[in-house]
Amino acid sequence: MQADFWLQRWQAGEIGFHRHEYNAHMTRFIDLLGIGPGDHILVPLCGKSLDMIWLCEQNFRVTGIEISPVAVDAFFAENNIEHDISEYEWGLMYQSDSINILCADFFNIHSADLPHIDAVYDRASLIALPQDIRPDYVTQLARLIPDTARSLLITLDYPQQEMNGPPFSVGEADVKQLFGQQFIVESIIAEDCLANEPRFQAKGLSRLDERVFLLIKNIP
Ligand SMILES: C[S@@+](CC[C@H](N)C(=O)[O-])C[C@H]1O[C@@H](n2cnc3c(N)ncnc32)[C@H](O)[C@@H]1O
Repeated sequence: MQADFWLQRWQAGEIGFHRHEYNAHMTRFIDLLGIGPGDHILVPLCGKSLDMIWLCEQNFRVTGIEISPVAVDAFFAENNIEHDISEYEWGLMYQSDSINILCADFFNIHSADLPHIDAVYDRASLIALPQDIRPDYVTQLARLIPDTARSLLITLDYPQQEMNGPPFSVGEADVKQLFGQQFIVESIIAEDCLANEPRFQAKGLSRLDERVFLLIKNIP
């Protein structure tokens, strides 16, 4: 049902979450990931995010995971990136020089399907999922990445009763509850962004903060 919802949103072009500029928190805080040129970033639930282009421009290699073929086709076409497509039991692998996207259900991927991952970038991915699915997302993410991989997580935080998600509200307490067992959670910044978000103002939100977290695997 979750998958159908997103497949239909992409078919209908209802992609208000897609941004035409790079995420300012990503460009500001990327160094916190402690990675260098040639290192590999996983972008779960990547859509056709332009942030992946910026990450490539910093000489990182990028692997995205996205369930909608409409999104993945659009990403490669709109950015004029030559690519090959191969079929696997979990879905389709779109491969180019520096960006690969697995067109598949994130929950069906195993670490063996991925290259060695050095870091994770999550903007609008965790918050796309309803509350009951988020613990599975965290468990799956922890399975897919090595202990050394840090994650930059960007969420939205607003009074949940004022709007139905997605995007869902995920505040600091939620992030600590979700990730706290397996990750050290550092809260980096919380920025009021309501003034820049007319579509959320129109929905009647009284408060909207964009929050950034650094997650470091808690090695026992
Ligand atoms: C809110 S969008 C965010 C996309 C991207 N992170 C961005 O910043 O533009 C969430 C994306 O997750 C994808 N998605 C949802 N569930 C998924 C799943 N189980 N596996 C892979 N992708 C999924 C949707 O198709 C959608 O493109």
